[in-house]
Amino acid sequence: PVLARAYHEKVIAHYEQPRNVGSLPKNDPNVGTGLVGAPACGDVMKLQIKVDENGIISDVKFKTFGCGSAIASSSYMTERVKGLSLEEAEKIKNTEIAKELCLPPVKLHCSMLAEDAIRSAIRDYRTKRAKAGEPKKAGY
Ligand code: FES
Ligand code: FES
Repeated sequence: PVLARAYHEKVIAHYEQPRNVGSLPKNDPNVGTGLVGAPACGDVMKLQIKVDENGIISDVKFKTFGCGSAIASSSYMTERVKGLSLEEAEKIKNTEIAKELCLPPVKLHCSMLAEDAIRSAIRDYRTKRAKAGEPKKAGY
């Protein structure tokens, strides 16, 4: 079906030209790093966020050692969360990614990796800020 093909092309586009591939400085106090793995297949995803003084995600980078769907899911996630508050970003569900990219059921766990990764990055950022004893910021 035409629709299925269109969605499939979206996966391929994110896979062949993933957006926001790379790394942010791990020790930057404004950077949160999420590193997660999928027990089902052993694929690994690293996703990093940089949070500005208003509590908004101003930069995102990822590196995924995994299948095409995992790469597409992380690429999609980085575009989706840029400009969002932490609260907004942590509400994004893997089902949204799976639907947007038209992932088949066997590939659902690939999009789950992206949901786990953003949550883990947010958690890391908050832990870092708490340890630094920083006053609460908007969106904290
Ligand atoms: Fe490949 Fe839809 S069949 S993503
Ligand atoms: Fe495991 Fe895609 S097959 S992340």
